Amino acid sequence: MGADAVKHMTLSIVKRSEALGAEIRGVDLSQSVSEDVFEEIRAAWYEHLVLVFPDQQLTNEQHIEFSARFGPLEVHPSGKYVLKDYPELLLLTNKKNDKGGYVSLRDGGSVWHSDLSYMGEPSLGSLLYGIDIPEIGGDTEWANMYFAYEALPKTLKKRVEGLRAIHQFDQNDNPRLGPPPGMTVDEMKGSIWEKKSPEIKARTPDVVHPIVRVHPETDRKALFVNRRFTTFVVDMEADEGESLLLDLFEYAERPEHIYRHKWNKHDLVLWDNRCTIHLACGGFPDEQIRTMQRATVRGEVPV
Ligand code: SIN
Repeated sequence: MGADAVKHMTLSIVKRSEALGAEIRGVDLSQSVSEDVFEEIRAAWYEHLVLVFPDQQLTNEQHIEFSARFGPLEVHPSGKYVLKDYPELLLLTNKKNDKGGYVSLRDGGSVWHSDLSYMGEPSLGSLLYGIDIPEIGGDTEWANMYFAYEALPKTLKKRVEGLRAIHQFDQNDNPRLGPPPGMTVDEMKGSIWEKKSPEIKARTPDVVHPIVRVHPETDRKALFVNRRFTTFVVDMEADEGESLLLDLFEYAERPEHIYRHKWNKHDLVLWDNRCTIHLACGGFPDEQIRTMQRATVRGEVPV
């Protein structure tokens, strides 16, 4: 056990990076977790923002049961990328069916984001379970948004005080992002670029959130913007707003604010969407299968 390991009553907690992230051992999440142990986990989560639970053998029911300890679970608004019999679990995979089409979403999370920040009550936390891990690539990065806020120069902190930004689900509404050049409509299927149906659009109207939010449990201020879903600053010309957002993203995504996770099969990773953003790094060949299942916990209106 390294110098950073702290022995708690039950759990062993080892920091994974200076910025955020800790590995938790000493708990089997396939069993019902006692209230005491759950409180230890919750305290570690508030401290480290991202928790890695290695070697967890979980059924879908157990994944859902542990996740629901944090609050009611969201069914992803896309509808079609969830597991048929377990709609609380979003399926992220590049597996194909007999006809060669992707069975679910193959590139979810491939732009920095906070889960469901485009909802009126964005997710408070997510729990991602590694099922098929490619031999190379497929890492995930998380960035500490408390650090991002704290790193802003005083003038920028002052400038963003009280400002609000628009968050939008449909990637095609985001003027900052466009599909890779030459991508065909067929290739967009099973991709974040797939055209959203009118039903999905109706389920995900644009929302407005403060650019800086206060975490309801820790009372700390965190930057709450991300490249994927935050599109415009309210009451600001588009160019000026974009230039401000690009400045803020630069602070958010600084290498010293990031933990990069190399997945092992059966890792369960829990993160706090209120004070982190994350990125699926990609970088694996399509012949190598990567499958993840995510439970997403409903959050509160950001203030
Ligand atoms: C996500 O954005 O929730 C998924 C991240 C990943 O698949 O690495």
